[in-house]
Amino acid sequence: MSLTLNQVVTLAFKTAFGETPQHLVQAPGRVNLIGEHTDYNDGFVLPCAINFGTLIAASARPDPVVRVVAADYHDEIDEFRLDQPILPLTDGAWPNYVRGVVKYLQEHGLPLQGANLALTGDVPQGAGLSSSASLEVAVTQAFKTLQGFDDLSPTDMALIAQRAENRFVGCNCGIMDQLVSARGEAGSALLIDCRSHETRAVPMPPEVAVMIVHSRVRRGLVGSEYNTRRKQCEAAARHYGVQALRDLSLDRLEAEAGDLDATVLRRARHIVTENQRTLDAAEALVAGDLRRMGELMAASHNSMRDDFEITAPAVDQLVEILQSAIGAVGGARMTGGGFGGCAVALLPLNQIESVRQAVAQHYRAPTGEAGTVYVCQASAGAGPLT
Ligand code: GLA
Repeated sequence: MSLTLNQVVTLAFKTAFGETPQHLVQAPGRVNLIGEHTDYNDGFVLPCAINFGTLIAASARPDPVVRVVAADYHDEIDEFRLDQPILPLTDGAWPNYVRGVVKYLQEHGLPLQGANLALTGDVPQGAGLSSSASLEVAVTQAFKTLQGFDDLSPTDMALIAQRAENRFVGCNCGIMDQLVSARGEAGSALLIDCRSHETRAVPMPPEVAVMIVHSRVRRGLVGSEYNTRRKQCEAAARHYGVQALRDLSLDRLEAEAGDLDATVLRRARHIVTENQRTLDAAEALVAGDLRRMGELMAASHNSMRDDFEITAPAVDQLVEILQSAIGAVGGARMTGGGFGGCAVALLPLNQIESVRQAVAQHYRAPTGEAGTVYVCQASAGAGPLT
């Protein structure tokens, strides 16, 4: 019998620190239903937090030291001091996510005290399901709970976690992953305005399943290609004289393209059309209109494939297999940063088994591996475990 995450993290904590932890906190990973690469263009996204996440066992320490044990890395230990500059380790390892968050919690003006932490998680890594955002937000939550930082809002937590990822880990991501990890609501997706950080809970229709299928295609190019896409979007915004592509209409995109580079134009077209699809999808979900949702997801995937060029042939094929198994009521698309990773599908609950079988029968990654299917629940954001 395998241990629950709760048991794993408690055991790692007791083994490393010889005592029972004072608190257990969690922060979820996420799956994005629609709205890809729109977040850093000040646009709209529609993710939901999922029932896979990071769990931290935590206790206060009397000295200004943070000592962290990673249950998923053979109980490796990292230790650093709060009264000395907090620096990243060179190999980009797991400790950087913890160190980065602690550094930016301090920079936020919070008087941090020492802590013992044990970490574990079950978000598949490199799958586009935000395992790193879940870890960052969980670390933020651990200090919030340990020290009773009641004024630290979930949005602040997300911004601190994002800063750690941008400036300490070195990935220039937007706000979506951290915000939905901090503010997710059980049973709902979250429509996020990435400019104002306003969110609206969009209830998932009760008869709808959220299925995630890991393509087993490694997300190799993601760092460099992600940053290239960002630069292309910024170049397009400059061409049109707008603050961000969020401010551009499809009419202007076409009418004022002028001598804009053809690739940059296609990148911008993805963002402009994806923003509208995301707003439309929130309406479709509220109305329980899975057919419309399926059309929007298909259009989103095609736009990511043809205009933004962030899919991969195997992922395109996986999405086709999902779509044809689901039929017209529901849909599928690649989810997350791209270049591999997962597809997300929305489908009627009574089709879970037939869709699962279609994937098992027809999908293989270039390595020959089968896809991994997760049926998940839209879940609550970060918090203490009661
Ligand atoms: C990654 C980033 C997010 C977002 C998505 C693409 O997950 O961390 O900020 O840009 O890619 O939608």
